[in-house]
Amino acid sequence: ERRDALEISLGRMRLKNPVMLASGTCGYGRELRDWFDLSSLGAIVVKGTTLAPRAGNPPPRLVETAAGLLNSVGLQNPGIQHFIELELPELVEAGATVVVNVAGDTEEEYVEITRRLASLPAGTVAGVELNVSCPNVEKGGLQFGTQPQDVFDLTRRVVAVAAHLEVWVKLSPNAPDIVAVARAAEAGGASAVSLVNTFRGLAIDLDARRPVFARTFGGLSGPAIKPLALRMVWEVTRRVGIPVIGVGGILTAEDALEFLLCGARAVQIGTAQFRDPEASVRVIEGIEAWLSARGIRKIGEWIGSLRVKGEQLYPQADA
Ligand code: FUM
Repeated sequence: ERRDALEISLGRMRLKNPVMLASGTCGYGRELRDWFDLSSLGAIVVKGTTLAPRAGNPPPRLVETAAGLLNSVGLQNPGIQHFIELELPELVEAGATVVVNVAGDTEEEYVEITRRLASLPAGTVAGVELNVSCPNVEKGGLQFGTQPQDVFDLTRRVVAVAAHLEVWVKLSPNAPDIVAVARAAEAGGASAVSLVNTFRGLAIDLDARRPVFARTFGGLSGPAIKPLALRMVWEVTRRVGIPVIGVGGILTAEDALEFLLCGARAVQIGTAQFRDPEASVRVIEGIEAWLSARGIRKIGEWIGSLRVKGEQLYPQADA
């Protein structure tokens, strides 16, 4: 009965709980399988995967900040075929619900990857999360994610080939108007939006008088961004009809409960896993205990029940 309390629906998916692993922080789940049962998660969103393998950016790629992490990985990944042949079978064997974060230099690349995943037997992959928000690459990523029209076009093309796969779009906080981008994803046929990816930031090497990263900027994640992410999630949930997945600096069950209260239907845990590989399990258990202690029998009673005075909407939302 306690297990049912956390069940949620997300588009056509039914998840045992609203807690997922965020793309780029769990690889393809290999390292985490020794720590906990991947099937206990709502879902695992695997590393941004492209058509061909990519080597990523030169080191250094990570810088720890006072309350977060800057990364400039550059979408290093082994390519979709490697994923399908060598990584996916083990995830399926582990009973994980798998969503593939998809990235590419061109719209065609996103479409082709989705087509290949859609041709797999139903149940092996549940969906794709379109990465239109990676700030660390020359082409693709954020290039597709700042203008609503681009997001609409890409989403529509991917949805057309997605068959049984859910199509989520992962949004960038660096877009000038994230609400407009979320609405464009919805209009393009996305079944959910996840937000936020990292904030573009800068780290400096004082002795060298240079930026630390070869590509100058990196993406900031972790607790430093949580209030910003929460604000954006709240604004977007009030402006779209599709489910919102909250991401950004979640460390604890209380953090996750805040996102859910603001209307996120699910959450993703990312940076926290570098500090505690079992963070997601603790969040699931913590949510369960917190709701049960307050007599809340279904998580649906909690989701989106934030009490706000008046309608404090995103200023640009209706512009
Ligand atoms: O650099 C990276 O691989 C980051 C990807 C992302 O933030 O989506």
